[in-house]
Amino acid sequence: MTDTGPNLELGISPEDLSDGAMLMGRVGDRDVLVARRGEEVFAIDGLCPHYHAPLAAGLLVGDTVRCPLHHACFSLRTGAALRAPALDSVACWRVERSADRIIVRERLKTAARPAPIAGTPSPRSIVVLGGGVAGVAAAVALREEGYEHELTLLSADDSAPYDRPNLSKDFLDGTAPDAWMPLRTPKYYVRHDINLMLNATASVIDVGRREVTLQDGRILPYDGLVLATGADAIRLPIPGAAPETVRYLRTFTDARALVAQLTSARTAIVAGASFIGLEVAASLRKRGLAVHVVAPDAVPMARVLGPEVGRYIQGLHQAHGVTFHLGTTIAAAAGGSFTLADGQQVEADLVVAGVGVRPAVQLAQRAGLAVEDGVMVDEYLQTSAAGVYAAGDLARWPDPHSGERLRVEHYVLAQRQGQTAARNLLGRREKFDAVPFFWSQHYDITLRYVGHARTWDALSIEGSLAQGDCTIRYERAGRTLAVATIGRDRQNLEAEVALESAPPS
Ligand SMILES: Cc1cc2nc3c(=O)[nH]c(=O)nc-3n(C[C@H](O)[C@H](O)[C@H](O)COP(=O)(O)OP(=O)(O)OC[C@H]3O[C@@H](n4cnc5c(N)ncnc54)[C@H](O)[C@@H]3O)c2cc1C
Ligand code: FES
Repeated sequence: MTDTGPNLELGISPEDLSDGAMLMGRVGDRDVLVARRGEEVFAIDGLCPHYHAPLAAGLLVGDTVRCPLHHACFSLRTGAALRAPALDSVACWRVERSADRIIVRERLKTAARPAPIAGTPSPRSIVVLGGGVAGVAAAVALREEGYEHELTLLSADDSAPYDRPNLSKDFLDGTAPDAWMPLRTPKYYVRHDINLMLNATASVIDVGRREVTLQDGRILPYDGLVLATGADAIRLPIPGAAPETVRYLRTFTDARALVAQLTSARTAIVAGASFIGLEVAASLRKRGLAVHVVAPDAVPMARVLGPEVGRYIQGLHQAHGVTFHLGTTIAAAAGGSFTLADGQQVEADLVVAGVGVRPAVQLAQRAGLAVEDGVMVDEYLQTSAAGVYAAGDLARWPDPHSGERLRVEHYVLAQRQGQTAARNLLGRREKFDAVPFFWSQHYDITLRYVGHARTWDALSIEGSLAQGDCTIRYERAGRTLAVATIGRDRQNLEAEVALESAPPS
């Protein structure tokens, strides 16, 4: 519990809560948020169930509140988690009002599940193919939506769905224990009758017969399928390097193997100055390793964030002792000595390669689905085959905001697509119109980015990059395509709302 805010059992004056305001207080030992919309006052749990951010620091939008850290959205009326990354609802509390007092009483019972849609036959069996974040969000949403029939969550991974972004952050720097990583407890799957199959690789989807065949020959029939096979790390060939000295970071198993190797390592090369590569660099520095970043870029992340922001992030890493070798690549290795393409030599115990991912589309391709740098889906996330939806890193969807077809590798977006795909399998006909959002963490700086700007003709920075307090706007032909913020979480939410409500291009 936080120790701020008034005791809401004693109540507050209505003047302390103006229209559109939110306030964090306490009821017993619980943090509770009160929010006012016109004459209505709502009270819900005050901390986001995702990573416990105080919701009062977020944004009130209609009768919902958005979390300042990773933009989860909750209904003030029901407490329902309307949008990922939070998958759990928050509790509502009873509010009592008199002329001069707003008092919060007891916690209310959880709202009933949504009723099935009249006239829409529910599939008798659903297979969610892919146990990453899109897959688990789809499975959770199916049960939250009241789907009661057979549900299988199939994963080639050996671990139950986990917090993948944390692999390069708190888990790698040693602050997050293994126990933080699973997104659901083993009991959750049992309690919600989700047949979680791990180490289970699908090899064929027969969309005509509606069957998934596993590598071991087992056949899973389905009425509805969510394809969420994500992406695979691109491999980096380094002539002469022993395989165990070149590591990747996509799975929990990768992360554990890397952490085990770090106990005896003193120097690491990070190949690639991508978001993941630089997060790895920060985590390894925190563990005390010497870190060399080797990348072909002239400025890290300039393609996504622009050179000014890229140079700022590079400076941040340099200030923490990271050495950059830019405009070059690793050409060869001999023992612990790595030769770069420009002739430099770097001695290191291992290489962590963060050189991008490829959407895992092989199954979809073999099944005859439309694939073009990702599985093509319509605005409802349905693929070219009836009853087959796709979500997450592998899906390429028509984005109504940019007017472009997009495929991105963002955690929150993957989950939101999983949720929409699930609801549409149940006949809800929900268009996927979320504005893409991601965040990236480097030391004590977190950058948040909403929208999508592949290219831009104007970039403006309001505030101070050097002080880590600014808003960066990416525009094309006078239209804002994306907004990144550093140290301004609320403004990032405001930018998200503005992008959502901008007329489609
Ligand atoms: C280290 C790291 C850090 C990241 N940090 C951030 C961040 O800070 N912010 C952000 O927005 N995003 C971040 N991302 C990206 C984010 O994690 C991804 O966008 C997200 O995980 C994609 O989810 P997904 O479900 O589509 O795919 P995945 O999470 O990749 O899941 C795919 C699943 O499909 C399974 N699968 C694949 N093929 C088969 C098959 N044939 N049969 C059965 N199962 C199969 C896999 O085993 C896996 O379980 C990060 C990614 C990584 C790797
Ligand atoms: S802490 Fe609220 S969305 Fe992550």
